[in-house]
Amino acid sequence: MRKQIVAGNWKMNKDYVDSEILVSKLLSYHKHSSTEVIIAPPFTNLLAAVNTLKGSSIEVAAQNMHFAENGAYTGETSVLMLKSIGVQAVILGHSERRAYFNETDALLAKKVDTALAHDMRIIFCFGEELKDRKAGNEKAVVESQIKNALFHLPSAAWGQIVLAYEPVWAIGTGETASPNQAQDMHAFIRKTLADNYSEALADGVSILYGGSVKPSNAKEIFSKTDVDGGLIGGASLDAAQFTDIVNAF
Ligand code: PGA
Repeated sequence: MRKQIVAGNWKMNKDYVDSEILVSKLLSYHKHSSTEVIIAPPFTNLLAAVNTLKGSSIEVAAQNMHFAENGAYTGETSVLMLKSIGVQAVILGHSERRAYFNETDALLAKKVDTALAHDMRIIFCFGEELKDRKAGNEKAVVESQIKNALFHLPSAAWGQIVLAYEPVWAIGTGETASPNQAQDMHAFIRKTLADNYSEALADGVSILYGGSVKPSNAKEIFSKTDVDGGLIGGASLDAAQFTDIVNAF
């Protein structure tokens, strides 16, 4: 059976000291459960988070990585660097990376390949913009995003992939997709996987919902059949709120 996962994407928030305070609080609030918990602090705080969380069941992910293993890419961070400090997972394809850093499906496919070549787990994000939804194109957009970046992969690679559907219009806006809108899209994503691979593979892939998930709406969203958890932005910066969301299953 697929896993239930709650992941916190801290984005460009929390300096070193504040990050350690948040990690320690999360650790003290955390109870062992069947829900997997992942946090993605900024690069400068990853090593400390890995060390503080050693021996706990909270995992640490990076928010991005370059497709090359090393080289002349000023300001970038490679998969080898992440692995060398004990980071085993990475978020790729976040809509903010696509919008502000021009990350395309083709570039993301390269990052995915590099991450997988080094056994990294990937939380792969995608989702339509408001204009797509208004035009009724949301499913076509989502389908092309996942096909272009992921459907070249062999079946075996999917054990390392978690999908995160994040409608851009719901990120940081306070507006969430309704639980039924989320379920409808998640079911479509799972069917697309089943059509291109197999029912069994589609059944085993966790699909998270992201976009203004809060303690007050998490339970209803997570109760939907094809929603296997959430990728949480704003509410992941507060230990109590994030823990409430983790416990919403
Ligand atoms: P949000 O962000 O929860 O603040 O809407 C979600 C995300 O961008 O992953």
